[in-house]
Amino acid sequence: MEYNMKLYEGFLHGADYNPEQWLSYPEILQQDIEYMKKAHCNVVSIGIFSWSFLEPEEGKYNFEYFDKIVNDLWENNIKIILATPSGAKPRWLAEKYPEVLRVDKNKVRQIYGFRHNHCYSSPVYRSKITKLNKMLAERYSDKIIMWHISNEYSGECHCDLCQRAFREYLKTKYNNNLESLNHAWWTGFWSHNITDWEQIHSPVNIGEPDGIMTGLYMDWKDFVTYQTTDFMKAEIEAVKSVNENIPVTANFMGPYQPLDYHYMKDFVDVISWDSYPTWHSDRGDVYEGHTIAFAHDLHRGLKRKPFLLMESTPSLTNWLPYNKLKKPGMHRLSSLQAVAHGSDSVQYFQWRKGRGGNEKFHGAVIDHNNKPEGRVFDDVKNLGITLEKIKEIAGTETKSQVALVYEFRNRWAIDNSSGFNNADKKYKRTCINHYLQFWKRGINVDVIGADYDLSDYKVVVLPMLYSLSEKQIDNIEKFVANGGTVVATYMTGYANETDLCYMGGFPGGKLKDVFGLCADEIDTLYETDFNFVKLNNKSFKVVDYCELITPLTAEVTGKYEMDFYKGKPAVLKNSYNKGKAYYIACRDTGELLNELYEEIIKECNIKYHILPYGISIHTREDDFNNYLFVENYTEKEQKVSLKGKYIDVENDNIYTDEINLDAYEIKILKSTI
Ligand code: GAL
Repeated sequence: MEYNMKLYEGFLHGADYNPEQWLSYPEILQQDIEYMKKAHCNVVSIGIFSWSFLEPEEGKYNFEYFDKIVNDLWENNIKIILATPSGAKPRWLAEKYPEVLRVDKNKVRQIYGFRHNHCYSSPVYRSKITKLNKMLAERYSDKIIMWHISNEYSGECHCDLCQRAFREYLKTKYNNNLESLNHAWWTGFWSHNITDWEQIHSPVNIGEPDGIMTGLYMDWKDFVTYQTTDFMKAEIEAVKSVNENIPVTANFMGPYQPLDYHYMKDFVDVISWDSYPTWHSDRGDVYEGHTIAFAHDLHRGLKRKPFLLMESTPSLTNWLPYNKLKKPGMHRLSSLQAVAHGSDSVQYFQWRKGRGGNEKFHGAVIDHNNKPEGRVFDDVKNLGITLEKIKEIAGTETKSQVALVYEFRNRWAIDNSSGFNNADKKYKRTCINHYLQFWKRGINVDVIGADYDLSDYKVVVLPMLYSLSEKQIDNIEKFVANGGTVVATYMTGYANETDLCYMGGFPGGKLKDVFGLCADEIDTLYETDFNFVKLNNKSFKVVDYCELITPLTAEVTGKYEMDFYKGKPAVLKNSYNKGKAYYIACRDTGELLNELYEEIIKECNIKYHILPYGISIHTREDDFNNYLFVENYTEKEQKVSLKGKYIDVENDNIYTDEINLDAYEIKILKSTI
């Protein structure tokens, strides 16, 4: 379904609302609506954890209290995003049907407790929840703007139902051919041949744990995504069977390791995610700023469309080792950062702090003091006012000339392949370090998958793409052949999608021609080890990994300066057909990337800014206007030079060539196209 954000005229601003906690406090429920208006909130997500209230006993439903909540919100013009309540199950369900409880990696079935922990294969869970979903849709479809399908799908189950479903999944994938499966998993090693489908078991701690047979692990992870999605699709089908015009979303969780959002994205209409940055930690806010920016760009990149910030905290979290408050300015900066990257909403967990329970000290718009005032409330209210002032930006697009490939599957493969540095191969951080080069120059980046259409980009960055299917290799090759520029690193194209190494030298297949080189060996450095690379007559420190390369057609631009590979290629550049391919054979500490990307950005004619440390700029645009979000992630006042004339969207102030930003300030400017 094509979904148009403009439908809602402006930004959504609101929170997860869990009124079930307050049913015996009618005065609180009444105040909530009044306070929501005061806070300039126009939306709430409800029903997320309502199952045991909506169906207190099997087959006995109670919608009365919910009717009142929905009607009160509706009458007061608070928009409703209605959740399917599958994220937390009622006790009666677990007691009567133990099959809904997960079996963990030690093959132990859990007892009732916690949340987000049901078995996605259980027919009982599916039938119970889809029945309830349909009833909710029949009752409330005309009063809601969107479906929030479940909550943060996650986890895996190793019960017999899941084993059976896994085997069926594999039969389909391998066309009922065990020989193909044995080949894909390389079971000839350690005498692991599979002679009957029934012998297959998911990776568990008392059997074949993760990382022992990566082919099995990759297929299992694919299956977990497939089965989670299948469950999600059943939930969606139930609500769409009543009204197919209400868009659906499922709140994702950033570069989350356990699921492949590149697969899941196609089954929801709108991408949304829950973002909980750790501002003011010892790593610093500039670190956090670009790390979270990467995650926002990943969610926008999934559909290359605006997304929703479904959850964030209005002040602090309660689940980190240290739960810090946001300093003045940070709430606005953090929230508008999401908008800068393409979000059409700012929403919180949760509206009101509960008196008890696990999250009573998690930030909320209304605190235990129950007053619509104070630092946090005012921050929220002021943000609501800002979102109203900048409403013309909602629904506008983000244009990027640069893409960075982050592959969930690649992370599975790298992390579970025994070798290199087994403690931490740092795939995600490496992607973010490359991303930083664009972030600090104010260049938009789409974070995408290796299968995506690359034709709109000038530069595509491929950090540590160890696992690539032949199809993905073809996609990259086509992009370069047609004139694109790629930047890849050590560990590119070592293995295929089930972790079988490519034969004939790395990188596999056509990539050897694209990069014009062969990676013969890779040296893993101890934490205390380092080397240097000479590039453009400067020396750059390198750490962790040094690949030993034989150039084929590539020009060697950087060379190692130490160890037995002194003088050998470390940075290479190849012309391939109409395009260019850069290869960085080692991991650096940032300076080498800085030097190289400066050159690539200029060579590819990508517009960039020269910005002080800790400042970034992101843009959104429509046919007439270009919107610039100028962000300061430091605690000091900074001057930023911008060529041309800009209008401040919030107050119509005009700036020419230069602006001042206070500590943690963000300004939203526009220039006419
Ligand atoms: C999210 C979850 C919410 C709440 C929040 C607290 O992961 O979806 O229900 O628990 O974390 O930060």
